Amino acid sequence: MSENRAAAPGADIANNPYKADFPLLSTRDDLAFLDSAATAQRPAVALEAQRRFYETMNANPLRGLYSLSVEATEAIAAVRAQIASLIGAVDERGRALARDIVFTRNTSESLNLVAKCFAPHVLEPGDEVAITVMEHHSNLIPWQEACRAAGATLVYLYPERDGAGNSTGVIGDAEIAAKIGPKTKIAAATMVSNVLGCRLPVEKLAAAVHAQGGYMVVDAAQAVPHLPVDVRALGADFLAFSAHKALGPMGIGVLWGRHDLLDAADPLLTGGEMIDSVTEQGAVWAPVPEKFEAGTQDAAGIYATGVALAYLTQTVGYDAVQAREAALVAYAPARMGALPYRAILGGPAAADHHGVLSFNVRGIHPHDVASILDMSGVCIRAGHHCAQPLLAWMGCENLACCRASLAFYNDRRDIDRFIDGLENVWRTFNG
Ligand code: ALA
Repeated sequence: MSENRAAAPGADIANNPYKADFPLLSTRDDLAFLDSAATAQRPAVALEAQRRFYETMNANPLRGLYSLSVEATEAIAAVRAQIASLIGAVDERGRALARDIVFTRNTSESLNLVAKCFAPHVLEPGDEVAITVMEHHSNLIPWQEACRAAGATLVYLYPERDGAGNSTGVIGDAEIAAKIGPKTKIAAATMVSNVLGCRLPVEKLAAAVHAQGGYMVVDAAQAVPHLPVDVRALGADFLAFSAHKALGPMGIGVLWGRHDLLDAADPLLTGGEMIDSVTEQGAVWAPVPEKFEAGTQDAAGIYATGVALAYLTQTVGYDAVQAREAALVAYAPARMGALPYRAILGGPAAADHHGVLSFNVRGIHPHDVASILDMSGVCIRAGHHCAQPLLAWMGCENLACCRASLAFYNDRRDIDRFIDGLENVWRTFNG
C-alpha cells in the first residue's frame, strides 16, 4: 500500500496529542481500541456536555414557555444549525437550513424514515431502486421492504474486481450506466463502506439518478467521522448519519433531507410534539422537522452531539483527522505485509481505506482471531459487519471477516500491539 498523505503535517503517529482527551483511552492503557467503525470513543468534553445539560438547562424542549425550557429548546436549535452548516445544508446566502435536520435514534431509523415515509410517494410497481452490494443492512433492508411494498425491484451495483478476483471497492462508470436507467426512482449508497473503507462515487450515482428524475439517498455513517461531507456537492436528496460514530452519544441519529421532500413525507411515528392540532378523529402534523420527532427527544444527547462534532471538526479538524488516519492506515499494512498469512480486503492504496482495514488470517476463523487478539487487549470486530450480501459476494468463508477500524485518536503503538497480537494468533494455531 502506498500513501502520500502519510507524510502530511499532523501525521506524527508516534505521538498522540489526542488520547488524553478521551477518558476511556487514557485510563485503559491495556487496550488498543480498533473498533471505531462500530462506535467511537467519547472525548471528555462530550461527556461533560451531557452532564451539563442535565445540571444547568434540564427542561423538556418545546414543552414550556418558561425560560429554562426555552434555553433547552434553543440549545437543540443551535445543534440543528451547527449540523446543517457542517454538512453544507445552507441556502444561497450560506445560512444554515437548520429546520431540514431531523433528529432520530440512529442511521437505521433515519434511513427507515426515508424508505417507509418518502419512498411510497414515488415508487410504483415496475420501478427500480438501485443500491450497491456494499451497503450496511441499514441501507439495504429498508429498500428490500420498500420495493416489496411497492412492487418495485431492488437492483444492485457491484464494484470491480482486480486481476486476482479481489474487490477493489470501485463502482465503475459502466456499472452506473448499466444499472441506473429510466426505471430507477431512487438510488441509495453509502459514502464510505463499513467493510472495505472505500469512498463510493456518490456524486456520479446522484447525477445518474437525477438524470432519470429520481432521488439520491446517502448513508454517511462511516463518512462523517473521517471526511468533510457536503450534501450539495454530493448531490444528495437525503443524508443520514449517527452521532455515536462521530464521538457523540449512542441513540442520536441525524437525517437531512431536501425541504420539499421532507415536507411530502409522512411521519414515521405519531404522538406527542409532532402535531399542530388534534381532534377526536384526526390530526394536522406540525411542520418539518417536528413532524418527524414524536415524543420527548434525547435533548442532552443532542446537546452533547453538538459538542462532540465541534471537537471533531474544529478542535481536531478534518485535515488532522485525515492526515493521521492515512498515516495509521498506511503503517498497518506495511507491517502486516511481513505476515504472509493475512489478506487485506479492498483496494491496494491507503486512500482506499477510510479508517477501515478488513482482513482474514489464513485458515483461522475471524471470531478466533478477534478472541485471541482480545487476550492482548486489542479490540477489533469480526463477523459479517451487517453487510452479509457484500461478504457473500466477496466469497468470505462463513460470511465473516476481521475488521480493524481506526480513528485519529489511535497511534503507532496501537497498530504495533495489533500486529504483535496477529503474530500471536498465528503462533497459537500454527506453532
Ligand atoms: N454499523 C457498525 C459497524 O459497521 C455497527 O460496525
